[in-house]
Amino acid sequence: MTAKRGMDSASRLPTNTYLWPLKRYTEMYRRSLDEPEAFWAEQARKLDWFKTWDRVLEWRLPYARWFVGGKLNVSFQCVDRHATTWRKSKVAIYWEGEPGDTRVLSYSTLFREVNHFASVLKRLGIGKGDKIALYLPMIPELPIFMLACGRIGAVYTVIFSGFSPQAIADRVNDTQAKVIITADGGYRRGKTVKLKELTDEAVKLCPSVEKVVVIKRTGEAVPWTKGRDIWLSSLLDEPHEPVAPEPVEATHPLYILYTSGTTGKPKGIIHSTGGYLVYNHSTYQWVFNAREESVFWCTADVGWVTGHSSIVYGPLSHGAAIVIYEGAADYPTLDRWWNIIEKYGVTILYTSPTAIRMFMRSGEEWLKKHDLSSLELLGSVGEPINPEVWQWYYKNVGREMCPVVDTWWQTETGGIMISPAPGIEPIPLKPGSATLPLPGVDAAVVDASGKELPPCHTGYLVIKRPWPGLLLDIYGNPERYREAYWSRFPGVYYTGDFAMRDEDGYFWVLGRADEVLKVAGHRLGTAEIESAVISHPAVAEVAATSRPDAVKGQAIVLFITLKEGNSPSDALRKDIIKHVRQTIGPVATPSKVYFVQSLPKTRSGKIMRRVLKAVASGESIGDITSLDDETSVAEAKRAYQSLKKTQGGV
Ligand code: PRX
Repeated sequence: MTAKRGMDSASRLPTNTYLWPLKRYTEMYRRSLDEPEAFWAEQARKLDWFKTWDRVLEWRLPYARWFVGGKLNVSFQCVDRHATTWRKSKVAIYWEGEPGDTRVLSYSTLFREVNHFASVLKRLGIGKGDKIALYLPMIPELPIFMLACGRIGAVYTVIFSGFSPQAIADRVNDTQAKVIITADGGYRRGKTVKLKELTDEAVKLCPSVEKVVVIKRTGEAVPWTKGRDIWLSSLLDEPHEPVAPEPVEATHPLYILYTSGTTGKPKGIIHSTGGYLVYNHSTYQWVFNAREESVFWCTADVGWVTGHSSIVYGPLSHGAAIVIYEGAADYPTLDRWWNIIEKYGVTILYTSPTAIRMFMRSGEEWLKKHDLSSLELLGSVGEPINPEVWQWYYKNVGREMCPVVDTWWQTETGGIMISPAPGIEPIPLKPGSATLPLPGVDAAVVDASGKELPPCHTGYLVIKRPWPGLLLDIYGNPERYREAYWSRFPGVYYTGDFAMRDEDGYFWVLGRADEVLKVAGHRLGTAEIESAVISHPAVAEVAATSRPDAVKGQAIVLFITLKEGNSPSDALRKDIIKHVRQTIGPVATPSKVYFVQSLPKTRSGKIMRRVLKAVASGESIGDITSLDDETSVAEAKRAYQSLKKTQGGV
């Protein structure tokens, strides 16, 4: 077969006819860029609107407002629409708790519960635009509250249940939430996590909080503040009436989700109602190729964006049956997930490379105990997937019969951006590549000056025009919004990722280009970790970096100088690790702490992160490159040698 190599410059689609048999995708992609407004209006019409939009897009750099003038309601889209059809008796949620308890909610049950919870919120004085915080384990009440907030137009923030009091307080204080909804506890690896106690600690730092609503999950005794704390069950017992879905503007905020950036303070990403929902409704179908009878399981925690878009809004807006599992993947044994897949007949599994690497390490015998023949499609998200891990997933979980969709996206993008799209057209896969941009996503790889790079060059991943899932803003910080996403390369969205585009137009996302780490798929800023460490009384200076980890992808490494009067010891090392866990949460547990005499710095006082990374990873300084670092190679080498001498100097 003769292959025509090259790029069609007008549309930036490759013209390699060997790897490029895609007709439907090509047509759709072209149209989405040539006539974006008509394209997205067509997608939006698949949802039910109380009022049609006046304009599809208002684009005033850096703000994009989609479906302006349109009105809709997210809980109507995800629940009412199905509860009034035959789907009322269809399963919406198969839920399994870690101890093995189960609940199955049909769409009509979900409808009743969302109404009931919305009436509780109203009774608490919550209305359109009010902010509430949800700090909950992975129990059905979490998505129900999210939908109940959407029903009345309240804006929620979900706080990951692995976060510690300081991290909770930072988020609650930023939103000024008046109400926190939590549980007595949750189950994790056979133990209980005392969420109410952690909430109480946090609330001491949160003057805005008036009420703490508590869901009974573990049944353990909890501390109680009279007048402030209320059991959800007592609120549910009161008389209630159905709550009509509030038609909100398409640009009305649906939720705020905090994510790490390059400063010590997480960013409150605000997502819209209309654009966000249209984007997730479309991309769910394109990427997962789901059918009415599919059983979709996204293993993410609802505390992250994947849990919002791919557990709740994408699938439920289609009336899909989803699986939610509360606990740890390896509890009580390493076949817990495979057992769940067999039990519920999961057809689509969407998970992270970290989880796959963990299973790969523990061997195939755990998989062989179960019938996984229901699986039709596998997905991966959150971090780059190594080709050998991809192959293992394809072979052992997918029995070489299920396409693997490696989906690249971010909290800020709201939904999947670069991914195979078998729901449009199957595509030849390359393990390790997220393949092609979805329709409407004008992705490119540019050099430091913003010039588009030819194929097979590594550079920065950017998106050259807005798409409906784009964040609305950073809560309370429009300057940071402009600065973080639209300043590095004026006029285009900066992702913060390194990528390469090959000759076939396939994207290979290589990792972060900024000081953000991906530890077990969780996003953590080095500055955020450093500000937790520096609050330890013995620490004078700290730099956080990472080293490759066989399971977690990256693991946190700290370089610390101590204040006078303190000397390095194992006890101090442990105490600092404990301090970080208590400040941010177990997700930020450092894997290695080096006590050093001084941190390597440039003449302008910037920490030579490239040097630290090389030392932490055991790499030679020549092996690593960073487009961001201003350090000269000679300087870096000198600093590297002197640090190697002192590292670990306990
Ligand atoms: O570095 C990219 C990586 O995760 C970052 C976004 O993290 P977060 O906002 O927590 O959202 C994760 C879930 C959507 C990206 O900037 N990332 C995400 N997916 C991939 C990925 N890196 C490589 N391949 C992916 N498929």
